[in-house]
Amino acid sequence: MNFVKKYLSYLRVINQKKYESAYNGTLEINWLNGKKILDTTNTNYSYGNLGEVLKKGMQKVTTPFKEASNEILILGLGGGDAVKQLRNDFKSKATITALEIDPVVIEIAVNEFDILSFSNVNIVNQDAELFLKYSTNTYHLIIVDLFFDATIPDFVFQQSFIQNINNSLHKNGSVIFNTFILDDLHNIRNQKLIHLLKTYFTIQSFKNLYGHNHLIIAQKII
Ligand SMILES: C[S@@+](CC[C@H](N)C(=O)[O-])C[C@H]1O[C@@H](n2cnc3c(N)ncnc32)[C@H](O)[C@@H]1O
Repeated sequence: MNFVKKYLSYLRVINQKKYESAYNGTLEINWLNGKKILDTTNTNYSYGNLGEVLKKGMQKVTTPFKEASNEILILGLGGGDAVKQLRNDFKSKATITALEIDPVVIEIAVNEFDILSFSNVNIVNQDAELFLKYSTNTYHLIIVDLFFDATIPDFVFQQSFIQNINNSLHKNGSVIFNTFILDDLHNIRNQKLIHLLKTYFTIQSFKNLYGHNHLIIAQKII
């Protein structure tokens, strides 16, 4: 059955299954170009274009994140694409902590994408904003990939969150922000974010990735 879906998915997106979630609305497991992906009503979450944006981020980061002694924090587990890329494509042996507010998404990551097959990954079912506020640990790499469907929570753009990110970073640590720009307001919002980030970080910015994605990479100024 899966083989047929995989074959047909080279021709068009095949919808396989739907999950209902209080946080994310309808979550869809689809097949596209022979790959199982996680979508919401209006966007891809994992194993599609959004994952390609994260991959570019990981390629551009200069902070070491592959050693077993390194620590990585992912804000927004989703289907676990970032975890899979870190382990399989980037061969990172780092300890990974992945935050996810939505228990249905965690269920999907476990049952549909076999996230528990990766060792040394701690999945935490908690609000990323609260986690960061009270965290005393420091990380070499933080990936901020927080969406609810096609919306990014407002706190991601606020000074207090950026301050907490900075406090949670190792001395030459880096942050990857996965965002998007659909209109002038988003453009202004992201410009303000970059302005805020420049207080603590050196910035790389990549606009118009896969259409509307805006990837921001920030490295802590030592
Ligand atoms: C685009 S998906 C993440 C994709 C994931 N990084 C991957 O590699 O597959 C965004 C996720 O952020 C989660 N999210 C949104 N706000 C959150 C919050 N405040 N705390 C934790 N998770 C949150 C959503 O439930 C959703 O699963």
